[in-house]
Amino acid sequence: MSSNRLPPAVAFEAAENKGSNTTSGPTMGDLVAERLSRRDLVKGLAAVAVAAELIWPDALSAAPASGETQPDASQFSFAELTVTPDSPTHHVAEGYDADVLIRWGDAVLADAPAFEPGKPNAAAQRLQYGYNNDFLGYLPIDGRSDHGLLVVNHEYTNGELMFPGLSPRSDKNADFHAVTREIVDAEMTAHGGSVLEIRRVDGKWSVVPGSKFARRITAETPMDVSGPAAGHARMKTSADPAGTRVLGMLNNCAGGVTPWGTWLTCEENFNGYFWGKAAAEPITPEARALRRYGAPAEWYAWGRFHDRFDALKEPNEPNRFGWVVEIDPFDPTSTPVKRTAMGRFKHEGAGNIVNSDGRFVVYQGDDERFDYVYRFVTDGKVDAENRAANKHLLDHGELSVARFHADGTGEWLPLVHGRANKDGQVWLSQQNGFQDQGDVVIHARLAADLLGATRMDRPEDIEVNPRNGKVYLALTNNSKRKADGTDAANPRGPNTFGHIIELTPTGGDHAAPTFTWDILLKCGSPEVAEVGASFNPATSANGWFAMPDNFAVDAEGRLWVATDGNAGRRTGRNDGIWAIDTEGTQRGLARCFFQVPVGAEMCGPCFTPDLETFFVSVQHPGETPDEAGGTPSTFEAPLTRWPDFKDGVPPRPAIVAITRQGGGRIAK
Ligand code: FEO
Ligand code: CA
Ligand code: CA
Repeated sequence: MSSNRLPPAVAFEAAENKGSNTTSGPTMGDLVAERLSRRDLVKGLAAVAVAAELIWPDALSAAPASGETQPDASQFSFAELTVTPDSPTHHVAEGYDADVLIRWGDAVLADAPAFEPGKPNAAAQRLQYGYNNDFLGYLPIDGRSDHGLLVVNHEYTNGELMFPGLSPRSDKNADFHAVTREIVDAEMTAHGGSVLEIRRVDGKWSVVPGSKFARRITAETPMDVSGPAAGHARMKTSADPAGTRVLGMLNNCAGGVTPWGTWLTCEENFNGYFWGKAAAEPITPEARALRRYGAPAEWYAWGRFHDRFDALKEPNEPNRFGWVVEIDPFDPTSTPVKRTAMGRFKHEGAGNIVNSDGRFVVYQGDDERFDYVYRFVTDGKVDAENRAANKHLLDHGELSVARFHADGTGEWLPLVHGRANKDGQVWLSQQNGFQDQGDVVIHARLAADLLGATRMDRPEDIEVNPRNGKVYLALTNNSKRKADGTDAANPRGPNTFGHIIELTPTGGDHAAPTFTWDILLKCGSPEVAEVGASFNPATSANGWFAMPDNFAVDAEGRLWVATDGNAGRRTGRNDGIWAIDTEGTQRGLARCFFQVPVGAEMCGPCFTPDLETFFVSVQHPGETPDEAGGTPSTFEAPLTRWPDFKDGVPPRPAIVAITRQGGGRIAK
């Protein structure tokens, strides 16, 4: 077996690294105008957009009044954790417990068999907790913070760590013959998501066995298609001539929960699951569009046993992935729905807020180098009284894409078929290959290319702070950005360590056509001047981080970041959770709160409404770190056996519940 194969996460990274966006965009290298001071624009916003946190109605109760002075004390109170490079286990700040809630292979459904290490078994896996937990969303039952549903994404699988005899693989020419049908079917059923009912008794959390809400979603689960792409010619396949019913969801990374209690789960690197590279010439429009999405990337062997994953046999199947899926976790018989009005790209998450006018706004990153930031605003308003009235809310609305100007302003460019822009030009037209709005959403990237959106450094999570209306955007890194290809919003080339942008919607209106923006933080070591990091000088040697990925904004409007990629990029720390002050003189002060085991990334940061529990997901523990070199980590010889630490038991992705010893709110 050759050693130059990449584990899936590295393959994803490599693909995102390459980028498929060959457009020039409105390169802000052209826009050399000096940044204008816009403090006056931003000042005094206090714009607490809305309020309609139906689930957490107290979330806004302590919003600062306009004109209130900025604090000069940290928003966080905890003793900072010392970073732990290469530790085989997890670590949390002193005074906290960090307990494993559920691991890959544990029972989700009542009749699930016991986990058997090393034995691929799709039938068992359909009932057991899936692999590589990512997004976590907590939905209270009866408003409680000690009893609720936890919805979980299972993003991808690491066959080399799950089963014996495999090496990390990234393309179909690797050891795909070693990947049997049994393994493929176990991988497919380890993808998707889980719905767990959880309860806290005597301070400790556990999964309620045999819950009526328990559910596994997999790469086989039937899903409806709604919105402009439903029934579209580009969505039709031999198994689904109507183009309205898809089997499964793929590579679900981050997501969101809605105020009406549904789960938004976001398909990211779907391109990796497809086989069947078309001949290089002639390049048909369909092949060109697939390429813009990096498909087919041939990372998994699924196409060997399932024709729908071979794009030469089933050319439209890739169009049926790359969507936001809405699932009602309170009804385990409900059919998940792919909400195509929100666009098709490599969705990271679905940070959202109810706007001041009642409309629902979802911010979305497309995680690939040089790709874009999107926003979706519903036409209708959230009905806080009638849950069912929100059932089709996400099917009608306006998708737009961000352009960042060098003067610290920005605009949302509508991705609407046939609509003229402010110069009277109609870009999204038949002439340019868009017959209808279905084409626009299916090929959202191509539409955004035409409009001249700003090419960003891998947009990951984007989350709203309901306390002050600010929006945080993680740009994880972009090693391919050239020094002469920077712009104001992506100011470092190469961008090795990532940065965080803070957006402020004009007038506090999340549906406004414009916004202002600023850079909250440039990541990386503050000790190396060339890095150009911008942490608050009070940040310690443990407090700085790189590669921001996911955010949690807690009920007090405090910002927490989860990282992905520190271990392999020589920052001298594992990935983990850092708390970041965003206000007053402490702005940009970061502190380490949690560290994952070696090889893992940190995902899913999520609080209970009472702020007493912080759930995090430890993804791919023991995976060969990016840029690690040397021997790959495998089932037989993994880097760690977290969290069981038993011979013969491989590392298992798991959720960790962090609580304060003796009780109380986190970091208060
Ligand atoms: Fe699945 Fe962009 O992280
Ligand atoms: Ca992520
Ligand atoms: Ca990630």
